[in-house]
Amino acid sequence: MNVLITGAAGFIGSQIAYRLWKEGHEVLLLDNFSYGREDNLVFPDVDFRSRILRIDIRDRKAINEVCSQHAIECIYHIAGIAPLPDCQSAPAEAVEVNVTGTVTILEAARTYGIPKIVFASTTALYENDVMFPSHEARFELPTLIYPNTKYAAERFCQSYADTYGMSISALRFANVYGPHIDCLRKQPPFVAYMIRELWYDRIPTFYSNGTQSRDYIYIDDLIDLALKVAENKAPGFEAVNVSAHQSYSVNELYGIVCEVMGKNIVPVFENPEKYWAKYPALYEGAYPITQKILDHEVNKKTLCDNTYAREKYGWEPQVDIRSGLARVVAYVDTLLSTQ
Ligand SMILES: NC(=O)c1ccc[n+]([C@@H]2O[C@H](COP(=O)([O-])OP(=O)(O)OC[C@H]3O[C@@H](n4cnc5c(N)ncnc54)[C@H](O)[C@@H]3O)[C@@H](O)[C@H]2O)c1
Repeated sequence: MNVLITGAAGFIGSQIAYRLWKEGHEVLLLDNFSYGREDNLVFPDVDFRSRILRIDIRDRKAINEVCSQHAIECIYHIAGIAPLPDCQSAPAEAVEVNVTGTVTILEAARTYGIPKIVFASTTALYENDVMFPSHEARFELPTLIYPNTKYAAERFCQSYADTYGMSISALRFANVYGPHIDCLRKQPPFVAYMIRELWYDRIPTFYSNGTQSRDYIYIDDLIDLALKVAENKAPGFEAVNVSAHQSYSVNELYGIVCEVMGKNIVPVFENPEKYWAKYPALYEGAYPITQKILDHEVNKKTLCDNTYAREKYGWEPQVDIRSGLARVVAYVDTLLSTQ
């Protein structure tokens, strides 16, 4: 199968590309490297660096060219601006990439008859839920820019599926972790951050009280499901939670990681406001971001039901949190040892 993967230099896109390549698929990789990294493209048995297309998903002409020149059977549309504070501080760009960029992909897929689109959505959509676990079909609408961009993009996915009879699945990823998680960026995801800090024997700072719990999904489990979903070419739209259906608090995850790494470092807990202060744009202008929203974001719980994925696709997450974190520790160790 010819498969196009957008966001292929990122954490999730590169891992999907590698797995598809290993399974014998013809992979076409695309990224603008705004967040992606070349070393995500180097694997023990293949190096994708020379073949990745450096294209922005907002570039309609280039996207149309790619889609018209290859007999693509599936697009994994993974590219997007993922860090929540980045989307909040540059909202127009977040909308251009996450929403308009998605529509550009959908329109090219429509024009050139691409039979399947798998879109990277997020369980951050459920940020205002108060009943758990969160279900695909029943949730409170989100507030912040990032989940709203993904919500809007999903609406366009549904629009294309309903209007043109295309087959589109939006995978709502929980917090994804695994080897190649970006631990080098300025504000890494929580799992990457704590492992990096412990690796350097530094004291990690958590901008919370450590009790809020979130659910996670290990990258290989996510890919298992993403591959199964791509086989479903039935016309229509579906949203699928990709979650292990188990929540862990910051303190619990930190405890596991300390044990795995053999560290005994007490973290510092800071006021969440200090974290957001790193994004001064949010405090500029006549209407600065409110404390209530920041508190809600930091303290929110996430727990997503994965019954739909299990029943429809016969999928079951395989990797428990301890083994998954141990694999991230091994990856970070190798990466930082060679920096
Ligand atoms: N990592 C998670 O926990 C998580 C959870 C839920 C949803 N998601 C979604 O999954 C997707 C991948 O996440 P990730 O963790 O791999 O993030 P990532 O930042 O590592 O990867 C995203 C990739 O998209 C590329 N990109 C961004 N804008 C682009 C543009 N305009 N044109 C072309 N490429 C562009 C970046 O360069 C990057 O390589 C994102 O859409 C994100 O919103 C991630």
